[in-house]
Formats: sequence, C-alpha cells, structure tokens
Amino acid sequence: MRHLIDFGDLTRAEWESLYQRCSDIMDHPASCFRPPPPVFRAACRGRVMASLFYEPSTRTNFSFQTAMLRVGGTVFGFADPKSTSTAKGETLKDTIKMVSGYADVVVMRNPKEGAAKAASLYSDVPVINAGDGHMHPTQTTADLTTITRLRGKVDGLSVGLCGDLKNGRTVHSLIKALAKFEGIKFFLIAPRELAVPEYMRAFMREHGMWFTEVTGLEAVIPQLDVLYMTRIQRERFVDPLEYERCKGVYVLTRRKLDRAKKELLVMHPLPRVDEIAIDVDDDPRAVYFEQARYGMYARMALLTDLANQEREKPEPVEIGVKPACSNPNCITQTEHYLPPLVKQNGGVDCCAYCDKELR
Ligand code: NCD
Repeated sequence: MRHLIDFGDLTRAEWESLYQRCSDIMDHPASCFRPPPPVFRAACRGRVMASLFYEPSTRTNFSFQTAMLRVGGTVFGFADPKSTSTAKGETLKDTIKMVSGYADVVVMRNPKEGAAKAASLYSDVPVINAGDGHMHPTQTTADLTTITRLRGKVDGLSVGLCGDLKNGRTVHSLIKALAKFEGIKFFLIAPRELAVPEYMRAFMREHGMWFTEVTGLEAVIPQLDVLYMTRIQRERFVDPLEYERCKGVYVLTRRKLDRAKKELLVMHPLPRVDEIAIDVDDDPRAVYFEQARYGMYARMALLTDLANQEREKPEPVEIGVKPACSNPNCITQTEHYLPPLVKQNGGVDCCAYCDKELR
C-alpha cells in the first residue's frame, strides 16, 4: 500500500510524475476554477475520502475536500475531534481501523509528531499526512508546484526560509523535498530559539546541501529566488513568554522588497498573522494565494493516484514493547501500544515516527 507520510519517501521521478499529472489538470483550457478535464473529472468516481482533522485547518481541509469532489469522489469526516470517540478515550489505532473500513483513502491532520506514520500501520487504505507534528508533505506538493509553475524549474534556486523553523512542519517537509534537487542554497532565517531542529541539520549535511543560518532577513533578501515566510507557531510553544519574545520578529514589508530580485517568489503556506504586511499582497512577487490554489490541483493529482489502490490488510504489528523515544510530542508517548521503530538519519539511530535522535 502506498501512503504519503513524509515527502522524503517519494523519489524525484515519483514527484515528477505527480507534477505531470497536476500540470495536465491545470493546462486543460477549462481548468481554472472550472471543471477539470473529463479524464480527471471521474478519476475517483465511487471513491470515498475520510477527512480526519484533529487540529484546526482552513486551506488543507478545504483544498482536500474540493480536490476530491472535483475528481468525482465524495468526502466525510470531522474537523473537531471533540465530536468523536477520541473524546471518550478511543485510541488512534481503533479510529483508523474503523474509518479505513468505511473509506478508500484517509486524510489526517494531527498535532502529534509521527501520527500519520502510526495511522498507516493500521489502515487498510492509503493514509495521507495532511500535517502532523513535524511534517506536511502535501503542503510541499503545493510549494513545489508553485515554484515549478512560476519559475520553470527548482534546481539551482536560492531559497530563504524565514520565521519559525523549529516548529514549522511545512519548512521541514520542504527541506526534505528540496534535497531531491540540484544546487539548492538554503538561507535559514530564524531567531536562535526558533532555528531548525538538529535532526534537520543532520539531514541537510547528510545530503550535502548548502545552507547558512542567519537571524536577519534584510541582509539576505537580495540573494533570494524564493522567500518562504512562515508564521510563529504560537500553539506549539510550551512557554507562553517565549512566544511573546519571538512574535512579530520578522515582518516583510514592501520597502524590504525594494532590494529583492524582480523575479523573486514570496511564498507562505498561510495562515499569516503579521509576518507579511498587507501592502505586499499587491506586489506581483507575492504568490501565496496562487500557492494555495495550486495546492488544490496538486491534491487532485495525488488523490487520483493514491485513492485508486486496492484495499490491503497491513502487516500485523507487534504490540507490548515500550517505545524508546523520549520526545514528549512523539505519538508514541500517548499511543502506548505502538512498536518502537528505528531509522537511520545521518548515521544516527532515530525514532521512525518523529525523526528525533534515540538516546
Ligand atoms: C500550515 C500548517 O498548518 O502547518 N498551514 C497550512 O497547512 N497551509 C502553516 C501554519 O499553520 O502556520
């Protein structure tokens, strides 16, 4: 069974074939907010998507729903876990086993790191990670579609990632994806408290990626081809005072863009709080609303592929062994039956759910 849990699991060829399908949908003369080409209009006819949102979402939730409807499928699900048996103490495993009996594809957002990976162990149908505690691969499909569509290529670009690089799952997924391209230069712009986690640094080193970490935005703007702004993730701060110290640290204004390249792409996964001034919206380099629309097309392409697989019982999973991961946000900390799974990251043993180093 093919799931989409982490963008790193896709090969470049698999991404290119997904992008090709996405382009076929977009290039159809009638595609822009009108029905997709006939061949795609019924591509998921009779297929049902379960949409399990354990955390707030606007774009991801709506774009998945509209994507499924536009390729002929139907949708059920929840956007508030308080209305489900999770509130009665049901495990993720039981919810997934039951839901995968009703649906042909499960789309899940969950704040715990590794939640989508955990769900995939128990599902009879493909699981798509719509954002867990550390990865957001379908946002990355939107991001790569935007860059490829508007710049014609991804290789060789200088990409600035700015804001909350510690907690921002979109950034982590994008870094993993860009490792598949050549000649990318990363400018990681964050306050020291919100710098990328060590396992992401190890990942970039292992893949021989060029990166520099800076705290100031203005000095590096002139060098960038893509500036990917992100929100400071208030809900992921343990200490509210630390959020108070970090909020508002970067604000992109029209004036700051004066020194940027003419063909820069200003991107943002949205929602924005105050990190991009409203007057930037009218600058032709601001592409974040188009980026959200490209996300719908990318999800249409993804669903036509993944949701049409045959149902398949997953391999039995051993239970009862205490997970070795000590990351408090890892899904293994709350779903105690999960088997400890280990993977190598830069030659180091890491938890296969959350990527954190195992000690
Ligand atoms: C992002 C997310 O949820 O991680 N939004 C999105 O999916 N488009 C970014 C964010 O919440 O800041």
